[in-house]
Amino acid sequence: MTQDELKTLVGQAALQYVQPGSIIGVGTGSTVDKFIDALAASGLQIKGAVSSSLRSTERMQALGIPVFEASEVQSLGVYIDGADEIDHAGHMIKGGGAALTREKIVADLAEQFVCIADESKLVKVLGQFPLPVEVIPMAAAQIARRFAALGAQASLRAGVVTDNGGHILDVRGLAVTDPQAFEADVNQWPGVVTVGVFARNRASVCLLGTAEGVKTLAF
Ligand code: A5P
Repeated sequence: MTQDELKTLVGQAALQYVQPGSIIGVGTGSTVDKFIDALAASGLQIKGAVSSSLRSTERMQALGIPVFEASEVQSLGVYIDGADEIDHAGHMIKGGGAALTREKIVADLAEQFVCIADESKLVKVLGQFPLPVEVIPMAAAQIARRFAALGAQASLRAGVVTDNGGHILDVRGLAVTDPQAFEADVNQWPGVVTVGVFARNRASVCLLGTAEGVKTLAF
């Protein structure tokens, strides 16, 4: 099966977590695109979705799925999103699509984070994928120096301005062995908007697309 077919498979499988009549949280990325398409095609009637990006908002609205602002809801039953990496405890690296800040905000509203990913995303230790960090532009250079002091290399993602007007640093050379402590620490650095480690808002379930079908990992 191709990676694209695995993404279709898990996008479809995530429908089992969607309660009819509910408002759900929807992430961003090529795997989530498959989920949005499957949801629209399924005939499942939901009240709507809180979206984590303009990209997902536009896709859902084009398919007739109502989109709500995060400020219009107090909580969500489920948030469905992809990941760039996920470990065996449900911690993730996210932000390959630069939507990490809104993803973390919407994930934080949800009781359950359902991660949909193909098997290439499952890792033992987070950090092979360059870690996205959204920063206030004036702080980018000094934050890059802090990562250099940790032995890592941060580079500015050229030409990218986030939905919030921030810039993205992609950080290579990290092995995130304690995701919770790492997330808490980097979040304190002045100028950091969001670090792309999702530990506090980790997945409770991962639907993993494999050659043998969808595996459900519960954390
Ligand atoms: C978007 O900012 C990311 O967090 C995505 O969830 C992540 O990059 C996964 O994207 P794909 O489904 O396209 O691999």
